[in-house]
Order: sequence, then structure tokens, then C-alpha cells
Amino acid sequence: GRVRVPTNFVTTISDDRGDEPRFAGKPISDVMEKAGGIGDIVSLLWFKRTLPTWATKFLEMVLMLCADHGPCVSGAHNAIVAARAGKDLVSCVASGMLTIGPRFGGAVDGAARNFLRGKDENIPPFDFVEQAKKAGIRLPGIGHRIKSVDNPDKRVELLIDYARKNFPSTDYLNYALEVEKITTAKSGNLILNVDGTIAALFLDVMKASKMFSPAEVKQVTSIGYLNGLFLLSRTIGLVGHALDQYRLNQPLYRHQQTDVLFVNEEIGYVDEQ
Ligand code: ACO
Ligand code: LMR
Repeated sequence: GRVRVPTNFVTTISDDRGDEPRFAGKPISDVMEKAGGIGDIVSLLWFKRTLPTWATKFLEMVLMLCADHGPCVSGAHNAIVAARAGKDLVSCVASGMLTIGPRFGGAVDGAARNFLRGKDENIPPFDFVEQAKKAGIRLPGIGHRIKSVDNPDKRVELLIDYARKNFPSTDYLNYALEVEKITTAKSGNLILNVDGTIAALFLDVMKASKMFSPAEVKQVTSIGYLNGLFLLSRTIGLVGHALDQYRLNQPLYRHQQTDVLFVNEEIGYVDEQ
């Protein structure tokens, strides 16, 4: 028989041999004919399946709504400072991206794991919040620096509205909103934030589409798929901010000394040298 030389690489998502590239086994001409948008491409290359249209449209909403949130957030700030230091586009975007993590934009996977456990183990929302408090953990997907009950996050409202109208069920979202009732009773800014909303709704996508085994659900919430959605989306804004700074020909940024509290550990606050 034929003997295959052992390979150093294994891949399961795409293939560029033959006449045309294939995404998850599908020739791209087929993909282009059938795909409604970028959600279908994410669906094939990340999830290796064709998700239903109500789900790919949800992915697209996430990608559109999270593309930017102004110049003051961690990622944009870093990209802007890097651009003003004369760095190239890739470096500026990388600098911004590197801020995406458990506090900023990268709480989606953690929130999904938590809501999955809370809902599936029937943990009453009050106990869910108390358990985190006892463990000294900030609930991923809850809380925002400037958004609150009195200043709601439009992105969250739009995602919820879409899901209510288009998802077959929203059990995880409902659970997350019960959790939000408990946390916002403590403080108005402890809302279900955009990361938490994406997390709960993607759990609903997996459950309602019936296309994910329990093992796959576990995997999706543990290896970075969902933070990847924020990362992909926010890259659009990061590129935009770097280009904006180049266009504006902005000088090197140096932070105002008056905005820094200079403290000498021995003598305390130092007003002037
Ligand atoms: N769960 C439980 N309690 C919380 C949470 C939370 N997620 N967030 C804040 N609190 C409570 C804490 O008790 C805190 O008191 P402490 O200082 O004694 O710990 C109190 O609220 C005050 O918190 P703030 O310092 O005002 O919160 P801050 O504005 O610094 O934090 C942040 C905002 C970073 C988003 C925070 O809420 C958090 O860590 N959330 C979890 C991570 C998360 O979901 N990040 C994504 C945000 S959305 C995005 O980036 C696109
Ligand atoms: C964002 O999308 O960047 C935010 O929700 C974070 C923020 O502080 O506004």
C-alpha cells in the first residue's frame, strides 16, 4: 500500500489545494453563492458548520456593534498612543488588541462558562452572585465603567431585542438578566454588559440550534471562540483609530504630569520636586 510521510501539521478548517480554496470542505465559489455575509464565513472557519441564518445574523450584529466604542477605551487609547509614537499600522492594532482581556472585551468566555454553570446547575441567581462574592470574584459579563441602569448600553438593548424576535429560545439570556437584577440592586453600574450579553446569547445559539454537543459547548466556552468575536470586531475600530491619527498628523503623545499623583513611598504625596 501507499506509505504517507508523517506530517508536521494537521488542519481541519481549510484547504487551498485544487482549483479553489475550501472553507470547512466547501469550495469558496459555493460559499460565496450561498453566504449571506461574514457571519457565514466565521461560522465555517471557526465552528466548522453552517449555522442557521438567525445565528449568523446575530454574529454579524456582534461584529458590527462592537467595532468601536470611542477613543477613550483601553484598546483605542493604546492604538492612538502607538500611532502618535510613529508606529506602523500592524503595531498600533496589536498594541490595542493586547488590552483585550478579562476586564476589557475579553470577559465573554468567562461569562459564558459562568452562565452555563449557573443555569444548567439551576443555581438561583441570588446564590450565583453570592458565591462569586464569597470567592472574591468579579462576575465576568457584569459591570461597566460608564454604562448603568440610568445610562443603558444601546448595544446590549439591540442584541437583546434581536434575540427576543429571532431566537427560538433565550433561556441563558433570561438567566443572565435575573443575575443582573441582583447585581444592579447592589449598584446601578453592575449591569449585564456587552460581553455578558454576547456570552449568554451565544449559549442560546448553541442550545437553540441543536448543533452543538455538550462537549462542544464546553469547548466553545473554554478555548477563546467568544473572546475572538470581540477581538475580530474591535480590530475594525483599532485600524480606524490608527488611520485617523496618521491623517490628523498628530504629534508624539506625552501624558500630562498634572494628571499623575507622584508619590514617594517614604514621604508620601510629593507636590513638587
Ligand atoms: N461582579 C461583582 N461585583 C462587581 C463587578 C462584577 N463584575 N464589577 C464591579 N463590582 C463591584 C465590586 O464590588 C467593586 O467593589 P470593590 O472595588 O470593593 O471590588 C464595586 O463594584 C465597584 O466597582 P468599580 O471599581 O466601580 O468597577 P469598575 O468601574 O472599576 O469596573 C469593570 C468596571 C472593570 C467592567 C468591572 O465591572 C469588571 O471587572 N467586570 C467584569 C469584567 C467584565 O465583564 N468586563 C467587560 C466589560 S464590557 C467591555 O469591556 C466591552
Ligand atoms: C467597549 O466596548 O470598549 C466598552 O464597553 C468598554 C468601555 O469602557 O466603554
